[in-house]
Amino acid sequence: MTGIKRLIALLPVFLLALTPVCFTSCKNSGEEKKAEKQAADVDMPASVEEIAQERGLTPKDVEAALKTYMPSGRYDDYVIFASGGHSGQVFVIGVPSMRLLKTIAVFTPEPWQGYATGSKESQEILSEGNMPEGSDNKLTWADVHHPALSETNGDYDGQFLFVNDKANARVAVIDLRDFETKQIIKNPNTISDHGASFVTPNTEYVIETTQYSAPLPYGDYAGLDQYKEKYRGLATFHKFDREKGRIDESQSFSIELPPYWQDLCDAGKKVSDGWAFCNSINSEMAIGGINEGNPPYEAGISQREADYLHVFNWKKAVEVFKQGKAKQLNGQNIIPLDTAIAEGLIYFMTVPKSPHGVDVSPTGNFIVASGKLDTHATIYSFNKIMDAIKNNKIEGKDDYGVPILNFNDVMEKQVDIGLGPLHTQFDDKGNAYTSVFVESTLAKWRLGPPEYDGPDPWTLVEKIPVQYNIGHVVCAEGDTVAPDGKYCVALNKWSIDRFLPVGPLHPQNFQLIDISGKNMQLLYDMPIGVGEPHYVQMIKADKLKPWLVYPEVGFNPMTMSVDPEAASVGNERIVRNGNNVEVWMSVIRSHFNPEHIMVNEGDKVTIHLTNVERARDATHGFAIDGYNVNLSLEPGEASTVEFVADKPGVFPFYCTEFCSALHLEMMGYLLVQPKEPKS
Ligand code: CUA
Repeated sequence: MTGIKRLIALLPVFLLALTPVCFTSCKNSGEEKKAEKQAADVDMPASVEEIAQERGLTPKDVEAALKTYMPSGRYDDYVIFASGGHSGQVFVIGVPSMRLLKTIAVFTPEPWQGYATGSKESQEILSEGNMPEGSDNKLTWADVHHPALSETNGDYDGQFLFVNDKANARVAVIDLRDFETKQIIKNPNTISDHGASFVTPNTEYVIETTQYSAPLPYGDYAGLDQYKEKYRGLATFHKFDREKGRIDESQSFSIELPPYWQDLCDAGKKVSDGWAFCNSINSEMAIGGINEGNPPYEAGISQREADYLHVFNWKKAVEVFKQGKAKQLNGQNIIPLDTAIAEGLIYFMTVPKSPHGVDVSPTGNFIVASGKLDTHATIYSFNKIMDAIKNNKIEGKDDYGVPILNFNDVMEKQVDIGLGPLHTQFDDKGNAYTSVFVESTLAKWRLGPPEYDGPDPWTLVEKIPVQYNIGHVVCAEGDTVAPDGKYCVALNKWSIDRFLPVGPLHPQNFQLIDISGKNMQLLYDMPIGVGEPHYVQMIKADKLKPWLVYPEVGFNPMTMSVDPEAASVGNERIVRNGNNVEVWMSVIRSHFNPEHIMVNEGDKVTIHLTNVERARDATHGFAIDGYNVNLSLEPGEASTVEFVADKPGVFPFYCTEFCSALHLEMMGYLLVQPKEPKS
């Protein structure tokens, strides 16, 4: 029996196994019967074989297709939240189909969602992230790096998502009830971050660390010749108020750090809860200057054999902060480095060869770090770290007095996995999956007890090539206390020859890999036409409980409550007060009310709109031609637009969503009477 024939022979069994899954979501027994009849009638095997032959598909291809195909109307098992890279947004993608479900606007205007394209509420959120000063302090792009799902007891709870902007050191909060951005924090003393966003096991804090150091406080000037003295990094612990769904900066604090380039972090979990681990490079404190005859950064930073993994006792840092031992710089609470050392809040561990990722294993016992120029994953034992701290097993101190734990006392194992290991995720069977950049592979290897109790611990199991240049990897819930196994996605920087050429700027490549079987299997390539999506979190779809429509009519997504200024049916009106014209407008298929808004040139116009619909998907838009306005009003949503009517003339406004047969007719006029009639 050929492979294809075997697969085809198995197809009816496969379909039978799947049908009950469908039936649980089918609405009525009539549909069940219809589906059963169709399954029986269609001569699947012959046609599948023909199709496979015609398209030149191997049995493995057919298997991969069956594992990823979602029939119309069926939902994916997992959802990934992918950083949108330079787009400043977040992509929501279904797994295993790899269908793009949504783009969430975060750091950049997004017209479809009406994000910062007219609505007062979203404009205010985006403005929170502006630079504090300068002639043009508005930031119009971001470099989104690491999304983090909120956790309860170290497991994803599906409530919130946090993402950072490396380019400007910002952290955003997205509420997963409506998949909308609620808050953007501009770190007042950090100009560049990379080690963000990472949450503690109950989302008490969102961790953000500086990448490229700058003088502290932000705004001070010091030349690079004063790098060691004046430049500093920061680890910021943003306090998350789950009730309010916002970061509370008054309860947040930072720890001053040496000017090494702090990198990725992970919070301890279970046994290591209360601790956090952040990698760094540039312990050389190289200052570059290729144009002045100095070694370039890439060489200067790679001189030493090892850099420092920062070990933070964040729970103790909270106490120290509450004792009033932080000072305020630019309104931010900062625990000085000397205080942090004296209070035992910070220790270093050495990591060979320019480390990058750091990942805590599901039980919290192991901390996995890897050097970009190394072939090993280096695994540290949390118990050994605690023992070294307790018994002062240190190999010295850095230039700033931070104790360096003795490498051989804290290191558990080194596993040889391939050249250029970056990031590690975990499954439910005691395996780790590490992205290997230089080799372009995903490496599966075994942990040791208590994560894995079987034969051959701490050994490489299998490697699978990926196309190409893998950065991060994500596996299903693979950084939680309870990974699912099943799938990983390789986040590849280069696609080279994988897709139809579309010019010199090529898509990046998300590759779905099945890890549930004995061998890893590549299932699907998903081109990402936006650079550079960086990291991803993968959550079981049934943990997400998003609203299908806003819970009440007149709901303001920013306050997550009914807006007292919301317009309602029967209460639509236009009120003039001096030069201020305020409009309360209801929105429903297929009209706005009022339809005529007459103002004078120079009037300040405020329009409160409410979509009074309750039907799922009955979204309306509200665009004013020539005034650069477009709102999205989802069912129940209230939104406000404010502008000065400084352009005299006649401006149609209309609904930008194809909402009904009479969608074209859903419009009105803004009439702006000129101050002086044209002669
Ligand atoms: Cu409402 Cu088109």
